[in-house]
Amino acid sequence: MNRVRVAVLCSGGGTNLQAILDSAAAGAVPSGEIALVVSDSAQAFALERAKRAGVATCVVDKKQYPDRREREQRILAALEEAGIGLVVLAGFMTILSEAFTKKYEMRMINVHPSLIPSFCGPGFYGLKVHEAALARGVKVTGATVHFVNEVCDGGPIIAQKAVEVQEGDTPEVLQKRVMREAEWIILPRAVETVCKQLLKD
Ligand code: GAR
Repeated sequence: MNRVRVAVLCSGGGTNLQAILDSAAAGAVPSGEIALVVSDSAQAFALERAKRAGVATCVVDKKQYPDRREREQRILAALEEAGIGLVVLAGFMTILSEAFTKKYEMRMINVHPSLIPSFCGPGFYGLKVHEAALARGVKVTGATVHFVNEVCDGGPIIAQKAVEVQEGDTPEVLQKRVMREAEWIILPRAVETVCKQLLKD
């Protein structure tokens, strides 16, 4: 069966990558093949997860390539060489340039740990998102998967899932609940949904 070759871009722990790998191993991503994991940090545990799953890895370390243009060119070269049809940003902590996003228009998705348009855009990433949600006192938060365009966290929304904030939550506790109850569920599903659609196009 024809499959879309998927690259997952990470910067850290890679629990969202793991959710995709587990889902694929369970047969829930039949339209996609996880073909490459790219990290912009040589220290990212996501690389270890990829190796354990037998997925090829590519490191374009920010320290080694401080110039964003050069870094993006190296990532693009790796994606092209691997014949990637869908790019998944899963805990990738660098905002990509318009030149990059244009190359994968409607073929690049991102998971964000809030219900967009709340707590998103430049400066809202990782734990900071949950700190802001708790500071504002929202009672419901969640996660969003969306297509990536030139506006940070601004592309068309594919899926969202709400998660309740509980009394006494710390940013760390809330982050874990949002991952477990929302991100790890909607991201692998969105990968399959988009791959399936790309195969039809
Ligand atoms: C996840 O919560 C992801 O949604 C978030 O960083 C975490 C990465 O965890 N991404 C962003 O904030 C991007 N704006 P992971 O490396 O364990 O998947």
